[in-house]
Amino acid sequence: MKRFIPGLLILTTAQALQAAPDPARGRQLHDAHCMQCHDTSVYTRENRRIHDMQGLQKQVRRCELSLGLRWFDEDVNSVVRYLDDNFYHFGK
Ligand code: HEC
Repeated sequence: MKRFIPGLLILTTAQALQAAPDPARGRQLHDAHCMQCHDTSVYTRENRRIHDMQGLQKQVRRCELSLGLRWFDEDVNSVVRYLDDNFYHFGK
């Protein structure tokens, strides 16, 4: 068990340094985890369900949890930023 601890510390430090949303990282996370149930067409479909930033945040969290992942807030925010930059454009 002990030998996992250094890795964990590095991860925590990297997270702390990277508190701002990073859309490039968001894209990586998204493409690695989020295309199993739907592709990106749900983000642009005509009757899409998400209509604001808050809704987007909630939905990303919901989908992430249904995957059994435990992302840091920064990861969720990075994916939200990636989705908003590329598909939703709430932040413009
Ligand atoms: C376990 C299956 C599953 C996975 C994996 C999944 N999703 Fe979803 N997602 C859904 C379902 C189901 C919906 C709702 C589709 C519908 O309403 O037709 C949805 C809808 C969405 C929407 C809303 C689309 C709209 O209507 O505007 C977003 C945003 C979204 N997912 C993001 C993500 C992200 C980000 C990930 C990766 C963390 C992810 N999803 C992974 C099942 C999944």
